[in-house]
Formats: sequence, C-alpha cells, structure tokens
Amino acid sequence: MKKIIFATGNEGKMREIREILSDLDAEVLSMKEAGVEADIVENGKTFEENAQIKAKTVCALTGEIVLADDSGLEIDYLNGEPGVYSARYMGDAPYSEKNAELVRRLEGVPDGQRTARFVCAVAAAFPDGRVKTVRAAMEGRIGYEEKGKNGFGYDPIFFLPEYGCTSAELSMEEKNKISHRGKALRAIREELK
Ligand code: IMP
Repeated sequence: MKKIIFATGNEGKMREIREILSDLDAEVLSMKEAGVEADIVENGKTFEENAQIKAKTVCALTGEIVLADDSGLEIDYLNGEPGVYSARYMGDAPYSEKNAELVRRLEGVPDGQRTARFVCAVAAAFPDGRVKTVRAAMEGRIGYEEKGKNGFGYDPIFFLPEYGCTSAELSMEEKNKISHRGKALRAIREELK
C-alpha cells in the first residue's frame, strides 16, 4: 500500500486529511507516526512557498510522498495582513486578544470594506522530485465582535454573509465542506490518484 505523510503536528488536520483521502488506497501517516522530527523554518513569502518548503524537506528526509499545508487570514483593508504571518501575529497572545485587536484596527470601517478570506495552500512533494501545489480560499468579512465557540484561531471574527454566522458557529462538518483547507485538500487528492 502507498504511504503518504502529512507534514503536520496538528491532530485536527490529521483527522481531516484522513477523512478526505479515505477512499485512496494509501496509508496516511503524521510526521510522528512516520518517525520524522524536523524543525522546519517557514520563511516563504507566500502560502505556496511555505507549503512547498515543508513538503520538500520531509520528502527529502523520508523518500515518501509528502503533503504539507500553510494557511492564514488575509484582510483586504489591512493590505492582506496578517497573511503568512497569521500564526505569528501578536506572538503568544491568546486569540481572544488577537481577534480584539483586528476588530479594533477595523473600527469605523463599513461592511463593504471588511472583506477577508482564509487561504490554504497544499503542496505534494513526490520522491521523483515533482511538486504539485494547490490553493483554495473561503471568502467572508471581519465581524464586529467574537461569535461562536467552534473552530479555532480567527474563526470567531470571520463572518460568512451567505450563512449569516461566523465560521466558529458552524459545525466541523459544515466548515470542512466550505473551508479553504477542505477545498485545497480535496483538490490535492486529485493529484494523488
Ligand atoms: P498554519 O497553516 O498551521 O501555519 O496556521 C496558520 C494560522 O492561520 C493559524 O494558526 C490560524 O491563526 C490561522 N488559520 C488558518 N486556518 C484557520 C481557520 O480555519 N480558522 C481560524 N484560523 C485559521
């Protein structure tokens, strides 16, 4: 059976990728399960570059097919911030503070200019040197306060106009159907068949 390693330490992401790739005849392993320890510096300027850096590094270490993702929140009014720095924005501050600060930076900004998107790039690195990369997004707006307890990170301030709620008010199944990561993982799945 083909082995595929997903270069993440995040259990939630592992559950999602296993579910999405469940009909491929492949064993999907986390880095830990594959016995890989690597401290990878994500110094790319784009989501694609960061995903490729992670996938290529772990592929070179293992000789297996490796998937890696990189994601973040782009806010148009803030010229795309926090973007590739989403995980590092405001350092170790809790997300309640990061979210409050982003809402504060958009104070007085009308709905039409609060547009934002979650972006996810997924790269697949193959032992023969090929690298395939896909990107997907989930469009929305920055809300006025945190709402909802599901999800993580910036979900409580990410308002989805078509649903009339934030992505933190969707169930995990509902979010996976429309999310940047769900869409990108389903797209990369086509490259693995
Ligand atoms: P990474 O892709 O694991 O490096 O994470 C990027 C960062 O983007 C996360 O730490 C969150 O701050 C943010 N992010 C990415 N996807 C989501 C999401 O679905 N909901 C909320 N925040 C997200």
